[in-house]
Amino acid sequence: MPWHAPAPQRRAARALLALAFLALLAAAKESGPAGAGGARRKGAEGGDEGGEAVKEHTRDLGRTQWRQHLHRLAQVSVDDRGIADLLGPVLRHKYELPPAQVQKSLVYLGPNARLRRVVHDLIVGKHVRVGAIGGSITHGAKASKIGETDWFSLVSKYLRDAFPRANITTRNGALPATPSALMNMCLETYVDVDVDLLFVEYVANDGSNA
Ligand SMILES: *[C@@H]1O[C@H](CO)[C@@H](O)[C@H](O)[C@H]1NC(C)=O
Repeated sequence: MPWHAPAPQRRAARALLALAFLALLAAAKESGPAGAGGARRKGAEGGDEGGEAVKEHTRDLGRTQWRQHLHRLAQVSVDDRGIADLLGPVLRHKYELPPAQVQKSLVYLGPNARLRRVVHDLIVGKHVRVGAIGGSITHGAKASKIGETDWFSLVSKYLRDAFPRANITTRNGALPATPSALMNMCLETYVDVDVDLLFVEYVANDGSNA
């Protein structure tokens, strides 16, 4: 259903793209089968071999479901461009988990207005500042090359590939061996005041006190 939006409405239309994507993710929750849970139970009986089979099954299920998503998205278009084309790099990412499991990993979604604003800025090509704070894992411990193969660098690269029009600047403010209580006292030093998207990772350092 091609839709020719007048120029002043284009920005709003692009914001809708982001909303549509998030809505489709939310919709995945309803359409997702109980497959993953069922598969895990089956695997428990089969030992290690079963575990591998479950992983493979989950991966296949994930790919099938993401393909179905892309197929549904392909029918929507804005400014004469299919939404799947616009969001292609994001959607063609090789997801290892079915959409239902990705959905489950989100503890609290909230109204997400600020996150939607960031996605909108990424799509229309604005300057977006991305930061990270956390412990050694985020700093890059055990990565083959800090600044290139640590997870934050990989996520940053992914964002640049997925949103080539945006000017994405990144800053990794993680400090090895520090809990969030310490970072809390010096946030201004490690996080830019105008950061748009901040990743926070304190699972290991806050969880190891017990
Ligand atoms: C991206 O933003 C930074 C910070 O504002 C600026 O210095 C840089 O020139 C921009 N790059 C491009 C390609 O616009």
